[in-house]
Amino acid sequence: MSDFTSNFWAIYVSGITIVSILACLLLLWFSGKAKAMTASDNTTGHVWDGDLREMNNPLPRWWAWLFVITIVFAFVYLALYPGLGSYPGKLGWTSSGQHQAEVEKGNAEVAPLYAKFSAMKPEDVANDAQAMAIGERLFMNTCAQCHGSDARGNKGFPNLTDKDWLGAGTPEYIKETITKGRIGMMPPMAAAVGTAEDVKNVAQYVLSLSGSPHDSVQAALGKPKFMACAACHGMDGKGISAIGSANLTDDIWLHGYGEAAIIAMINGGKVNQMPAQADKLTQAQIHVLASYVWGLSNKGGATAK
Ligand code: HEC
Ligand code: HEC
Repeated sequence: MSDFTSNFWAIYVSGITIVSILACLLLLWFSGKAKAMTASDNTTGHVWDGDLREMNNPLPRWWAWLFVITIVFAFVYLALYPGLGSYPGKLGWTSSGQHQAEVEKGNAEVAPLYAKFSAMKPEDVANDAQAMAIGERLFMNTCAQCHGSDARGNKGFPNLTDKDWLGAGTPEYIKETITKGRIGMMPPMAAAVGTAEDVKNVAQYVLSLSGSPHDSVQAALGKPKFMACAACHGMDGKGISAIGSANLTDDIWLHGYGEAAIIAMINGGKVNQMPAQADKLTQAQIHVLASYVWGLSNKGGATAK
């Protein structure tokens, strides 16, 4: 109701509500008053199956009182709770207020738990079964839609269960990624590489880096052209975590495997973004989540790298 600029609809709705209730009362009163239609034997004159006659008796008293009670209830309810147009009700109850109160109660219950985890090192949190159960639920709610419910990712969405990281892969790095999100950016490189033939040759060279099937003649021709890539991916193609450039030697392909996918990468570049998640999570939740994600690829590991 509060979304309307004038209070016409509030009055309109209140009017209909009150008139409807009063109409019920009127109907009750009227049906109590109404006389039987035919005189002597108190029947309506309708007969079924030969001898089944419809009588016209007054409503039972208990029934009529039940009716009155529901009408009284309706008015009491409308006085206490929101229901009449924009009138908020004496109790000031709102569904969003109740939800808020329940959320706060839930938060207060888990606060000591989060306080405990926040004081622990991520490596230790990752070995705490209760924290990991919480981490898994948080992951399902906020991360699974992109990284998959098993955290193995998909094309464009990194697998978080392997040791292959665009960035540093430390708990701190994961925490920062969750908080601020990240943007992976590779510019289109075709012009820097040369002709379409050159691009194809570099792609063959990139395939050779991970020992994938490739044409060794083309790869050899492409190798010098890889100089254009080395600034970001390193001379050895292993990637530079500070830049977030992918490791090209590990046969793990975020943006697709094979010559065509690599050529598309070189020609088109890529902007791949994870949105910041800080506004959806508390600091303590991010701490538990980062520990959970770190734990996925460091099972049972007690030391961070
Ligand atoms: C809207 C989709 C989306 C959501 C939601 C999302 N991510 Fe991401 N995430 C991405 C994308 C895309 C990337 C890769 C960005 C890039 O290429 O640099 C990424 C990258 C990451 C990385 C870095 C991986 C690496 O190899 O360095 C981590 C860690 C991560 N996400 C964790 C999470 C966690 C934990 C959550 C839940 C709180 C989450 N993400 C929610 C899309 C998402
Ligand atoms: C300015 C830095 C930069 C340069 C120069 C650059 N890249 Fe990249 N490249 C990146 C980044 C960053 C990513 C990761 C994108 C992401 O986060 O999704 C990437 C990703 C890739 C991928 C995808 C890897 C995967 O796992 O799917 C390939 C293939 C690739 N680069 C090849 C090349 C080649 C070949 C060259 C040279 C012609 C090159 N790149 C030059 C920054 C660069």
